[in-house]
Amino acid sequence: MSRLCHMLCLTALLASPATAQNLDSLVARMTLEEKLGQLNLLSANGQASPQQIQLVRAGKVGGLFNVIGAENTTPVQRVAVTESRLNIPLLFGLDVIHGYRTIFPIPLAEAGSFDPDAAEATARAAGQEAAAFGINWTYAPMVDIARDPRWGRIAEGSGEDPYLGSLMAAARVRGFQQTIFATAKHFAGYGAAEAGREYNETEISPRTMRETYLPPFKAAVDAGVASLMSAFNDIAGVPASGNAWLTDTLLRREWGFTGFVVSDWTSVAELINHGVAGSQAEAGRRALMAGVDMDMQSSIYGDSLAPLVRSNRIPMRVVDSAVMRILRAKQRLGLFRDPYRARTAPPSAELRALARRVAGESIVLLKNEGAGRGAACCAPALPLSKSGTIAVIGPLADNKEEPLGPWHTQGQASDVVTVLQGIKAKLPAAAQVLYARGSGIDDSATAGFAEAVAAARQAKVAILVLGERGEMSGEAASRSSLGLPGVQQQLLEAVAATGTPVVLVLMNGRPLILEWASDHVPAIVETWFLGVEAGNATADVLFGDVNPSGRLPVTFPRVLGQIPLYYNHRNTGRPPDPNNKFTSKYIDVPVTPRYPFGLGLSYTTFSYTNLKLSATRARVRDTVTATVTVTNTGNREGMEVVQLYIRDEVASVSRPVRELKAFTRLSLKPGESRAVDLRIAMRDLWFYGLDMKPVVEPGTFRVFVGPNSAEGLEATFECIR
Ligand code: BGC
Repeated sequence: MSRLCHMLCLTALLASPATAQNLDSLVARMTLEEKLGQLNLLSANGQASPQQIQLVRAGKVGGLFNVIGAENTTPVQRVAVTESRLNIPLLFGLDVIHGYRTIFPIPLAEAGSFDPDAAEATARAAGQEAAAFGINWTYAPMVDIARDPRWGRIAEGSGEDPYLGSLMAAARVRGFQQTIFATAKHFAGYGAAEAGREYNETEISPRTMRETYLPPFKAAVDAGVASLMSAFNDIAGVPASGNAWLTDTLLRREWGFTGFVVSDWTSVAELINHGVAGSQAEAGRRALMAGVDMDMQSSIYGDSLAPLVRSNRIPMRVVDSAVMRILRAKQRLGLFRDPYRARTAPPSAELRALARRVAGESIVLLKNEGAGRGAACCAPALPLSKSGTIAVIGPLADNKEEPLGPWHTQGQASDVVTVLQGIKAKLPAAAQVLYARGSGIDDSATAGFAEAVAAARQAKVAILVLGERGEMSGEAASRSSLGLPGVQQQLLEAVAATGTPVVLVLMNGRPLILEWASDHVPAIVETWFLGVEAGNATADVLFGDVNPSGRLPVTFPRVLGQIPLYYNHRNTGRPPDPNNKFTSKYIDVPVTPRYPFGLGLSYTTFSYTNLKLSATRARVRDTVTATVTVTNTGNREGMEVVQLYIRDEVASVSRPVRELKAFTRLSLKPGESRAVDLRIAMRDLWFYGLDMKPVVEPGTFRVFVGPNSAEGLEATFECIR
């Protein structure tokens, strides 16, 4: 969407007769209890309870979440706007993460499309659908950078890269905020939970915080996000939900954020467990004074803070500022003018078509080699032909629940097209599809193996659909091992032992350890959790109706012991050298990942030639354009994601070996060549210098342009003052 349209759309969203003066006089008329009420956010259980409705009537609630359906939001909004003393409307929140009823790919999968427009489109559609059910505020996008696949919430974000993460964050904010308010969460550093253990402490250096974890939040703020959610974790001992540096100094003073901050679920009360508050009142005071405006689910602001305000331990101006931010948000959303916001959802067929397209774009082909049988030994296993007998095996092959992923709001299993259904729908009626479940997802029963092996023996190819349950990622779903759960690995090996070529289709919310499969299976397709159109999108790719173009938004390690492993690491004083023992590596495993960030294969091949820079010397205010010729050297039309990375050779602080700075998606016909321009603005080469101020330092930069973070043509330029 153009910037102009973005501004116009926002302007339309913000229009409301309630003026700033009106809000001032409204605050002046509020009792202290009514003010604290605006800062109180409570979860319902589908419907508001009678007690909650009573609190709304008494003006002691600013918003409710998890009220499902306009038939439930409308009556309680009516109580707020007609029966409460000051008639202030409520916010209705919900975790609309990757769809409301129409479930799109999980955010991590969608990030792999490297297509911010797609992310904007699904967020817009999800917001429109949610709005039709009375929701006016979502707790998305999750913009936490995650470098540790043990952490289950890696599924909810955009992976490990701050540049890709920032583009996705901004796109999703723009998309949602066409109709509802967005929330960038979890501010900040939640993805750095030590050892990938949920809610764990974090140790993030100020530089890594600024350069890696904060940029997607800044991008969300710049895109006009209405709210931020403060995180559960601490940062070097200071909990994010009571961290004045984060939610005041940085967010409001440095970035100029004018929206509001909501806590995470009871994260205000949890300041007691963190050991930075001795009582509920102290916890509430700490959070509010730090800049957390709205208290989700602790009820502390409403229940415990009035005496502290009356005794001046919390200045009234702090309360007033928080209240004003909530009221301004309600005004900006148009709630004073139109509290019920009746909306119609886009037609289901349109939503499903979008879900299928974006799911197709999100699939990553990890491996595609010769299947190893007879004359066809050397042709890649994929795409499959639509004739012959096909075995479809595995606990996720005909599963309707798991493709919805960990956060599926109102998604229904009955809406899901399974992989088996997608395959059957694609094939002529005469085609033979043999299905065997083989095993469960995470139990130990092997009784189904014999049927699976028998099916594979009769087929020309065995498609194994294996992976995780949806709820094995998401919140409170850290894993200490990243192999296929249960007996799925044994099932895979038993089927592969038949000699029938195997295509491994993965469904999972995080990088898995795929050593055996990578060495023994000819084709591996990463589908993540793709939502309602999972089966159709997967079949589109398996049979070549869609040529895969997804790329990994996160590194796949070889073994668990390599974690954390990410592409944009620093060089160390002893970079790995296979010929020198005393360098930075392991004695028992290569130092490289199994599948690097940015990798994704296609059914065609691309070559890169002729990398040229528009200048070899550029001033700080200049832009250098890298031009490279990309050629489709195969025999199918395909989409390449051309990626540009830089490396700052010498700086006052050690810089990453590579940093993604630009990419573009490019569709090429067989034999077609195109010169592609990628721009590097010198001002984007900033980092935090020795004095912890952002700086672009003159010097030599290497540029890599290629298909992923581990390959590419190279050039250099010099940045001068
Ligand atoms: C999660 C948030 C979510 C909130 C409300 C919390 O447990 O951490 O991401 O928005 O619940 O459902």
